[in-house]
Amino acid sequence: MGRAALADIKGKDFSELAKETKTNTEDTNKVSNTNKNRSTTTSDSSRKKSRRRPKKTTMPAAVMVSPVQRLFDTCKDVFALAGTGIVPTPDKIEQLRAVLDQIQPADVGLTPQMPFFSLPVTRRAPPITYLHIHECEKFSMGIFCLPPSGVLPLHNHPGMTVFSKLLFGTMHIKSYDWVVDVPSNASAVVPPSQTVQHPEVRLAKVKVDSDFTAPCNASILYPADGGNMHCFTAVTACAVLDVLGPPYSDPEGRHCTYYFDYPFTKLSVDEITVAEEEKDKYAWLQEREKPEDLAVVGAPYTGPEIVEN
Ligand SMILES: [Fe+2]
Repeated sequence: MGRAALADIKGKDFSELAKETKTNTEDTNKVSNTNKNRSTTTSDSSRKKSRRRPKKTTMPAAVMVSPVQRLFDTCKDVFALAGTGIVPTPDKIEQLRAVLDQIQPADVGLTPQMPFFSLPVTRRAPPITYLHIHECEKFSMGIFCLPPSGVLPLHNHPGMTVFSKLLFGTMHIKSYDWVVDVPSNASAVVPPSQTVQHPEVRLAKVKVDSDFTAPCNASILYPADGGNMHCFTAVTACAVLDVLGPPYSDPEGRHCTYYFDYPFTKLSVDEITVAEEEKDKYAWLQEREKPEDLAVVGAPYTGPEIVEN
């Protein structure tokens, strides 16, 4: 689903949430007043009893900041100077990672029982659901919901810094970075006997090839390292909160490219030699069209509202 369609969903969702938030705030005020009235008519004995209890303080609604609002506010700060290839400073990176690592599924309105985490009855590839939270020219926030065996195929993030926080479940991440110190003509020398149809392959090095189970820290990739090309495979139903800075943008040359990956040993290139024990750490990546069986559908984000102040 395109960005415009997702934005439409988001707009509708936000207007509905605004009403709900207002109602909840009114209810909170009512409860506060009720408690105040009760305290004036409490007997001495119960007053003594209440003294022994920890004092409950009701924070005014105006200063309560939801975790997702804190995430949004932090993104605004961390990605204030975002642009293609611009990486936030290390302290900003850590700041955002710390906020992300506090996020729980409930903070974004998720439970594993939601229907988009179930396997479909058809034999088709399980659809992946994207819950759009926010997008501006500096950053985007959204959640990919994968049923068991759902796959987000190998794709890149050109000039971007990306935080991926697994909210629940187990997910296998395989990621690569380009190998930059190879002869410039190496990628063109591919024996015709190979089954690879297209000669334009490029050498990449494996960065990550592991299962991750929540709770775990957010993973971060950068324009030139950290595993800029990655593939997500759901071992169990899982959800991953993605923060991209800057977001994909075709006009600004940041479009999503998909790849096949082939074992290093599948192709032989004269100019490139790798020690035998290192060969499984390299692969050949080849651009491909967006996979036909990739189904990513948009659904409304139903977590706490974000206030864009
Ligand atoms: Fe990605």
